[in-house]
Amino acid sequence: MNEAKANIHCSSHDSNHVLHENVAEQIVCADNLSMMAALPDASIDLVYIDPPFMTNTTRSSSNGQKYDDRWAGGIDEYRAFLRIRLVAIHRLLRESGTIYVHVDPRVSHHVRLLLDEKFGAENFLNELIWSYRTGGISKKWFGRKHDTILVYAKALGKHTFNIQRDGAYRTDGLKHDETGRPFKQTTKGRLYFNADGPAVTDVWEIPFLSTVSLERTGYPTQKPEALLERIIRASSRPGDVVADFFCGSGTTLAVAKRMGRKWLGCDASEEAVKIAVSRLGRVETMVGLG
Ligand SMILES: C[S@@+](CC[C@H](N)C(=O)[O-])C[C@H]1O[C@@H](n2cnc3c(N)ncnc32)[C@H](O)[C@@H]1O
Repeated sequence: MNEAKANIHCSSHDSNHVLHENVAEQIVCADNLSMMAALPDASIDLVYIDPPFMTNTTRSSSNGQKYDDRWAGGIDEYRAFLRIRLVAIHRLLRESGTIYVHVDPRVSHHVRLLLDEKFGAENFLNELIWSYRTGGISKKWFGRKHDTILVYAKALGKHTFNIQRDGAYRTDGLKHDETGRPFKQTTKGRLYFNADGPAVTDVWEIPFLSTVSLERTGYPTQKPEALLERIIRASSRPGDVVADFFCGSGTTLAVAKRMGRKWLGCDASEEAVKIAVSRLGRVETMVGLG
């Protein structure tokens, strides 16, 4: 039996009795509110959630899996649904913890206010723009090609943050010294740049999963591993507990496991949990620690 299979629990009722004493390394199939109620205070270092976006659609994947995002009670129902879950997550995060909430421009303004309310505007870290090229365009407005990820610390200044570097410098006339370090020659001497590249900003260009990507599980709203890798690298350390309470196909959990973090997941859909479990069983190699 693989590790993930040993730790799967399916319960849509009271998850108190099914959670391990050791919080991490398990996926629970339940409403996340009941699952979170069973977890101890300050037990998680990093939470990423990708909840429904209020798209008012039912999406189907090529292999027939359905994902329903309809809200009869409109925005008030959506806000109430999320508010109560953000309150629960706040209790679960350690002082050094961070939350990432992945939404899109349809609801991001509502979600930001909910986060301000519970986490405090003073703990706001970033509004990340995940920019991609997939999908159609409209003749009536600019192409909508980004999602919004809101990032809040539990306690600003105490939170874990590892600066990320990627890409190339845009500065003209960069030279490299004998050790390969980039610099610009100025009248005052050499101005050195970090050899690992410029610091990552709040606009992330990461491709959406292509239809033929090997990462594809068939789950309709699956996110790319590269997105989660950057988040986990920036806001956690090896050995930390990373949780995703709307885990879908288990992207966060698979990446956390591969990066040497402890992982904890929940999804209300049995189909999603089955996919996540089989995916975790396939994560064998430990690469990219740090
Ligand atoms: C946008 S998808 C997450 C996709 C995921 N990030 C991935 O990469 O596959 C949102 C998920 O939230 C789940 N969900 C919605 N309401 C939930 C609830 N109350 N408790 C647990 N899961 C819920 C849905 O079943 C769905 O799988």
